[in-house]
Amino acid sequence: MSDLDQSLRNRAYKEVEVHKEVVESDQYRLNYHVMPPVGLLNDPNGFIQFNGVYHLFYQWNPFKTDHGAKFWGHYSSTDLVKWKHHDIALTPSDWFDKNGCYSGSAIEHDQKLYVFYTGNVKDKQNNRETYQVMAVSEDGYTFEKKGVVIELPEGYTAHFRDPKVWKHDDTFYLIIGAQSKDLTGKAVLFRSNNLVEWEHLGAIAGAHMGPLGDFGYMWECPDLFELGGQDVMIFSPQGLEPSGIHYQNLYQAGYVLGKLDYNQVQFDHGSFVELDRGFEFYAPQTTIDENGRRILIGWMGMPEEREDAHPTIEHKWVHAMTIPRELKLVDGKLYQRPVEELKRLRNEEVAYSEVELASEPKSFDGIDGTSLEIYFEPLEEMTELVTIRFRENGSISYDPATKQLKLDRVSFVDGQTVEERFCDLEQVKNLRIFLDTSSIELFVNDGEEVFTARIYPDHDQQNITFAAEKNVRVLLKAWKL
Ligand code: FRU
Repeated sequence: MSDLDQSLRNRAYKEVEVHKEVVESDQYRLNYHVMPPVGLLNDPNGFIQFNGVYHLFYQWNPFKTDHGAKFWGHYSSTDLVKWKHHDIALTPSDWFDKNGCYSGSAIEHDQKLYVFYTGNVKDKQNNRETYQVMAVSEDGYTFEKKGVVIELPEGYTAHFRDPKVWKHDDTFYLIIGAQSKDLTGKAVLFRSNNLVEWEHLGAIAGAHMGPLGDFGYMWECPDLFELGGQDVMIFSPQGLEPSGIHYQNLYQAGYVLGKLDYNQVQFDHGSFVELDRGFEFYAPQTTIDENGRRILIGWMGMPEEREDAHPTIEHKWVHAMTIPRELKLVDGKLYQRPVEELKRLRNEEVAYSEVELASEPKSFDGIDGTSLEIYFEPLEEMTELVTIRFRENGSISYDPATKQLKLDRVSFVDGQTVEERFCDLEQVKNLRIFLDTSSIELFVNDGEEVFTARIYPDHDQQNITFAAEKNVRVLLKAWKL
């Protein structure tokens, strides 16, 4: 390990130590989500199950609650429920990554763990350079950087990053998020037989390619995998204009479905679908585990937009990951469900097999608190407006007249404005709500739609109420988590 690497690590650990008390005394520290021990966390990286253990790396700036020269922080888990923090995996200590070990991914090969990431380099005039770098680990915990394996090809700006690697038949592939010289977003494919020498195959999807038309100035964090007989490409496009209830956040994260012809290097795909309808969700990454499950974790954050307004910043940390979600393709749509293992968090079950909701908001014994899961199922078609209010901070409501489901919350910027997000929905079959001390994740109709958001009610705001314009019978269950 170089002296610089060692001293950066020491500085980062010092930072964790110095601020430990302040960070941990924050009422908004989450109960069952992955968070940074100090500083800023963004994208999930290198998500993989290796030797039976799930590894989740993350973009980490230990020195401030702002972006900068990122490290790869490291968590592992044997059950996707309890996460253990480890020593730093990668430090921005080399000429090719001195301004950040940016996002990337992992693959197992010859019993070793290979990671690919973007080395971000800026010169004195702030001009950007980008290098795709490989690092190898025997045990999954300590990494040796092997150096640059891909240089910037012709035709792209230096916004060329976030390699996601996978194996198809006996060949390795890697997809990169890019901006072409005409300043539009692209996803660029590479191929290799040995993980070291990579052949540039060109853009397989992008703005003004295929069915997408005008589709942003940069695509970040692409991820391509097979699921249910289709090829799914997830990516995070920047520069889409809001359109009705769509594209309401500054940047989006979503997917297209299609078929990648690996020989012709052609990806025929359909239109873009947002993965999440809430406020904070970006740059998700998936992996396939030993049981063949395709699992997704997203960054429960949104870059730039109001990042500095999160109240956790007073306590020297910001952002978190979503809970792990299993992906399934159902009738041509990606469904996301909390992984089965999360049921292990459940305590103190309460169940109300049939309750009648009315216009007066009702609360129920055992359905309150700051960290809980709620299951809600109408026992008849909901023909009236139904509202679930949580923690005096926001609400979930379904309006059968507009056939829209809404999540609203009090803005954490001014503590006053109510902000709303919507999805179209024919009918509510069920809702599963995961509340943590400062987050909500709402899974609608077994994961057909998902809303993710950070919320900042005070610790003692613990009420949950249910109301319906006319009487509605529902089943309710809840667990403390
Ligand atoms: C997405 C992103 C990536 C980049 C990383 C830097 O949030 O901007 O494109 O690699 O974050 O932290």
